[in-house]
Amino acid sequence: MKDILRELHSIGVPNHFPEFKSRKNDSCVTCAVVGNSANLIESGYGKVIDSHDNVIRFNKAPTVGFQRDVGSKTTHRLCYPESAYDLSMGASLVLVPFKPLDVKWLASAITTGRITKTYRSVKSLIKCNISTIAILNPEFLRYTHEVWLNKSGRYPSTGVTGVMMALHMCDQVRVFGFGADRFGGWQHYWERLQPKMSLGFRVTGVHDGDAERALLNKLHQEGIIDVYNGAST
Ligand code: C5P
Repeated sequence: MKDILRELHSIGVPNHFPEFKSRKNDSCVTCAVVGNSANLIESGYGKVIDSHDNVIRFNKAPTVGFQRDVGSKTTHRLCYPESAYDLSMGASLVLVPFKPLDVKWLASAITTGRITKTYRSVKSLIKCNISTIAILNPEFLRYTHEVWLNKSGRYPSTGVTGVMMALHMCDQVRVFGFGADRFGGWQHYWERLQPKMSLGFRVTGVHDGDAERALLNKLHQEGIIDVYNGAST
């Protein structure tokens, strides 16, 4: 692993985390964390999301065509090989590594494109700003799972990991687009699937969507984050 990290640094990937900045000196750093829930549809949250200093998005979530509800700004995008997406130069790619191969994939995806498959086909090359790439320390996933989720589910969702990351880096955190449908399915705002067609966490058991929701609700009630629930799914 050290060799791959060394290789990544030699290509220009920094060895520090991308900054979460305020646009105005001395004011608090605000962050919108935008999950991919269909509860964003018809929410009209776009302008309020874009008013934050930092906007974190996840995986393949598109903005074009959905700006009114999800905004257009992205400062950080969390993803892993199977969910990777081409980024604009203004956004930092934050790799959430679930296995050692994920870090090897990153090195390949910004150079040779040699790795085309993990446990399934993945994007072999990715467009992004190499100088702002970051790799989340897997220890942060363990910490989120153990300390915040009481080990519920097999591991935390990328979304709740992003909320925890924002809480540690920003002064004010607002959360949008979180919320499963009644089957435990994670319907996306850009796909209109029949509810039963999305394989829910109540079936897969990978993430504990109920525990994650309860955590967000608790943090909201305690005034630590603001959760915007949008239209119900
Ligand atoms: O589905 P995907 O993992 O790409 O979505 C990003 C994150 O948004 C999820 O990890 C989850 O935390 C959150 N999400 C949600 N409800 C949905 C869809 C996504 O809470 N219906």
